[in-house]
Amino acid sequence: MLSGWFSLQAPKWIPEESDLNELRRQLAVRRVLSAWLDRVRSAAMKLRLLCCVLFALVFGCSSSTVGSDLERRVDELVAQMTLDEKVAQMSGDSGVFLPQGDTAWNVPGVERLGIPPFRMADGPRGLGTVQGATTFPVGMARSASWEPDIEGRVGAAMGRELRAAGGNILLAPTINILRHPSWGRSQETYGEDVHLLSRMGVAFVEGVQEHALANPKHYAANSIEDTRFEVDVTIDERTLREIYLKHFRAAVLEGQAASVMSAYNSVNGQFCGENEHLIRDILKGEWGFDGFVLSDWVFGTQSTLGSALNGLDIEMPIARFYGESLLAAVQRGDVPEALIDDAVRRMVRKKLQYGLDQPSGLDETVIGSDEHLALAREAAVEGSVLLKNSSSALPLDANALQRIAVVGLLADTPNTGDDGSSSTMPAFVVTPLQGIEEAVGDSLLVDHIAKDALDGDDLAAIEAADAVIVVTGLTAEDEGEGLIGAGDRLDLDLSAERESLIRDAAAANPRTIVVLEGGGAITMGGWLSEVEALLMVWYPGQMGGHAIADLLFGAANPSGKLPITFPTGLDQLPPFDNVSLEVVYDYFHGYRYLDRNGATPEFPFGFGLSYTTFSIENLQASQATAVAGDVVRFSVDVTNTGSASGAEVVQLYVTYPGSAVERSERELEGFVKVSLGAGESQTVEIALPVNQLAYYDAANSAWTLEALEHAIHVGTSSRDLPLSTSLSVAAQAPVSMY
Ligand code: BGC
Repeated sequence: MLSGWFSLQAPKWIPEESDLNELRRQLAVRRVLSAWLDRVRSAAMKLRLLCCVLFALVFGCSSSTVGSDLERRVDELVAQMTLDEKVAQMSGDSGVFLPQGDTAWNVPGVERLGIPPFRMADGPRGLGTVQGATTFPVGMARSASWEPDIEGRVGAAMGRELRAAGGNILLAPTINILRHPSWGRSQETYGEDVHLLSRMGVAFVEGVQEHALANPKHYAANSIEDTRFEVDVTIDERTLREIYLKHFRAAVLEGQAASVMSAYNSVNGQFCGENEHLIRDILKGEWGFDGFVLSDWVFGTQSTLGSALNGLDIEMPIARFYGESLLAAVQRGDVPEALIDDAVRRMVRKKLQYGLDQPSGLDETVIGSDEHLALAREAAVEGSVLLKNSSSALPLDANALQRIAVVGLLADTPNTGDDGSSSTMPAFVVTPLQGIEEAVGDSLLVDHIAKDALDGDDLAAIEAADAVIVVTGLTAEDEGEGLIGAGDRLDLDLSAERESLIRDAAAANPRTIVVLEGGGAITMGGWLSEVEALLMVWYPGQMGGHAIADLLFGAANPSGKLPITFPTGLDQLPPFDNVSLEVVYDYFHGYRYLDRNGATPEFPFGFGLSYTTFSIENLQASQATAVAGDVVRFSVDVTNTGSASGAEVVQLYVTYPGSAVERSERELEGFVKVSLGAGESQTVEIALPVNQLAYYDAANSAWTLEALEHAIHVGTSSRDLPLSTSLSVAAQAPVSMY
C-alpha cells in the first residue's frame, strides 16, 4: 500500500553516528571561523551592499513594472509578509541529514497568505524517499539512449509521482560534466559531452516541470566526491563558460528550470553557494534567471553575508547561517531587506507560476504505475549499449538452445545504483535472472550459478551449456556519492575476482556473453578479447531484468551509444585528484582529450552496435555559408541494410580549422535517432544553430563566431565519421547563445 508524503520512509543511506559526530565537529569549527570571517567581511561589504541595494531596486522595479498579473500578484503577496516570514522562507526546517516525517526537506511558505511550502525529494533515478516510486535506469543509462524524448517522459513521470506524493521540487537532474570516469556519481549524470548533456538536461527539466519544479545540480564543476566539501576548482573563464556552464545555461534558458542547486565545492576561490561570479554575475545577471538558488546539503552554505549578498536564496536543509543569523544581519543593516524581498519574490513567483498553491489532481495510483514501469523498461532497453558481438553471438535464439548458464552473483542481485542521495525504494526489482527466466519460460533449461568464484562443478555446467551469460560489473560498494556512498572509483578495472569470473567462464565455453553493470567507464583489457559479446546495461533500474532479456533474446534490438569514452586505461585520461584541496580543470577531457593526444580508446564516445546494419549517405546542407542567427539544416539518407528492425543515432561533429583559439579536434553539435524496419530508408535532418559554433572570448567577455570554413562530419560515433562537408561562417561578436 503506497502511503505518500506523510509517511515518508527514511532512506537507506543513514550515516553512521561516528560520521555525524565528525560532521558536527567540523560544522562547529566552521561556525566559529565563519562568525569571524563575517566580521572581517562586514567592512568590505559596505561598498558592495550599496551595489546590491541598487541591483535589488532595479530588479524590484522591473518586476513591479512588468505589469503581468503574475508579477503584480507576487509583489502584493511579498508586500504583506513580515521580515520574519520572509527570512523563514529562506531556509529548510527539517532534519539536518535526513528527511523526516511530514516536514521532509520542507521549506516553509506562509500559510496565512496561502503560500505553500516547498517539499523536496531527490530524483536522478526516481523519488528517493517515497516507498514504491518507480526506479528508472540511472542518468548515464538514459543518456546512452540518445533519446531526449524518452528523457522528457522520464522527467514527467518523476514529476507526476512527486506531486502525487505531496512534494513539489525534484532535486534533479544531475548535469555535472563527467570530467573523469572515476567520479563516484558518474552514474547520475548524462556523460562527458556538453551538447548531449544539454539536450538530455533540457528534456528532463521540461518533463518534470509539467507537474513540479526541477532543480538542475550541482552548479558548478562538481566532479569529485571524496573532497567535494572543500575542494577548490580553478578554471579559466573560457573553459568555465564552454565546458562547465553551457548545459546549465541550456537548462535555465531553454528548459526554463525554476530552481538550481549550488555545488559544495568552490570555484576559483569562492564556495559555489556564495560564488558571486557564478550566481550573481552569470546565473541571475547575464542569463536573467528568474528562479531561485538553493544550496547543497551538509556544507553547502558556508556563510551568512557572503551567501545572502551573492544570491543564495535558500539554505538547505536547515537554518545554520540563515534563520536567526540572517534576520540579525538584516536588522543590523548588513543585508538590505530588498535582497530578502528579491529571494522571496523568486520563490513565490515559481510557486504561483507552476500552480503549487493548487491541488495537483494526482493521486498515489501514479506512483510505480504500470505506465511508469513500462517507461522504465523502455528506457533500459534504449540505453543499453552493445559493445561487442563477434560471430553474431547475440541475439540468442531460445528455440535453438536447450540449456544456458546464467553466471555471477549479480545475475540475481538487485543492482539499481549507489547508496547515496539518489538511492530509491522500489517495490521490487526484476533481476537479470528473473527477466531471462520469464522470457524463456519452459522452452529451455536455465542453470543459475550464483557465485563469482567458480569451482569444478560450476565449470562443468558452464561447459555443458549452449550459451553462457555472465552478469557482472560494479555495485554500490564500488562507486557512489561521498560520505553516504562509496565515493570515487580510483581503479577503472573490475575487481580481480570478477575479471577471473569472466575469464574462467570464457575459457570453459567460447560462447560467453557478458552483461556488464556499472555507472561509468570500465576498463577491460584483460578479458574483452576472450568473450564473444558484451552488453553494457549500466544500472538499468527496477525493470532492468526484463530489458536485458528483451535484448539478449532479440525481442528488442540494442540502439544505445556510449555517452562517455571507454578508455583502455587510466593513462589515456587526464589526472583525477581526489586528495588535493586544489585542482585545476582545463579545457580537455573525455573524447576531446583522447583526440588531442591521438589516443585510441577501447570504445569511443558515441559508439554502439546493433543486430542490424545501416548505411548513411548523401550529406546535404541547406546552405554553404551562414551568418550569426542562422540555423543550418544537414540531412543524410539512412538505410537499414540488415534483416532486423533497429535504430541508429546519426551524429554531427564540427572541427574548427584555423581557429584563433585551441578548439577540440571535433565536438558533437547535433544528433538524431532514427528507427527503421529492415530494408527501410529515411532522410533525417539535424539542425545546427550557427551561434552554437561560437567560442567564449574571455578578454572581451563575448561569444565569438569566427570567419572559418568549419568542417562538418557526420557518422555513427566520434571515431566513425565517413561523411563530411564544410560550412563557411561570417565572423561576428558578440553573438547571443539563445
Ligand atoms: C547531494 C545532493 C542531494 C542532497 C539531498 C547532497 O549531499 O549532493 O545531490 O540532492 O544531498 O539529498
